[in-house]
Amino acid sequence: MERLQKVIANLGYTSRRNAEKLIVDGKVKVNGLIVKELGVKVKPSDTIEVENTILDNSKNYEYYLLYKPREVISSARDEHERKTVVDFINTKTRIYPVGRLDYDTTGLILLTNDGELTNKLTHPSSNIEKKYIVKINGIINGYSIKQLCDGVVVDGKKTARAKVKLKSIDKKNNKSLLEITIHEGRNHQVRKMFESVGYDVLKLKREKYANLDLTGLKPGEYRKLTNKEIAILYSMVK
Ligand code: URA
Repeated sequence: MERLQKVIANLGYTSRRNAEKLIVDGKVKVNGLIVKELGVKVKPSDTIEVENTILDNSKNYEYYLLYKPREVISSARDEHERKTVVDFINTKTRIYPVGRLDYDTTGLILLTNDGELTNKLTHPSSNIEKKYIVKINGIINGYSIKQLCDGVVVDGKKTARAKVKLKSIDKKNNKSLLEITIHEGRNHQVRKMFESVGYDVLKLKREKYANLDLTGLKPGEYRKLTNKEIAILYSMVK
């Protein structure tokens, strides 16, 4: 959240001092309502109107959705000089990933410089839905699936309820393919959940995160989020 006059100035409409004058004069609306106080803070999803012109407030921040390939680190920098998720994004802005995917996990990861949204999305209470496709060693049985759904103990704490769907079984190669949807974001959670019921994860891909999926992207490709997608993310963590 940033002060209204600072956001108006940052968006290049006018100087901060003049923005303060416009606010006091009743020339500024936030989400359709006139704001005359100077202390008001706004977020990227708020609509700001100055002298009847709507400003594109989302320009303040950058939001990207990357299809992370394997063997890429989910941080802004790596001390061993390995490729990071940030290396894929063509921007001069200092952005960072929202949460983490393991080095060998592929799939959807968000990157932004919006610290407020990042904190909200990654907070344990956020309840954001994440869907993974998991390939495991072995033929999974119904009882293990039920255990994964009901919750298993990982690092001394039971996991919350999950949705688990068996997609296919490869008897010849002794492997199973499943879909799991969780709402928590603990370290290596999916791998540890399957290990706790006796299966090693061979491949892991995040297909969905909140309202977003990988439609139209190949590994290593990315796109910007739309203003609508950003607003929906904010509404999910209100
Ligand atoms: N769970 C894991 O075990 N690894 C990931 O990368 C994401 C979720």
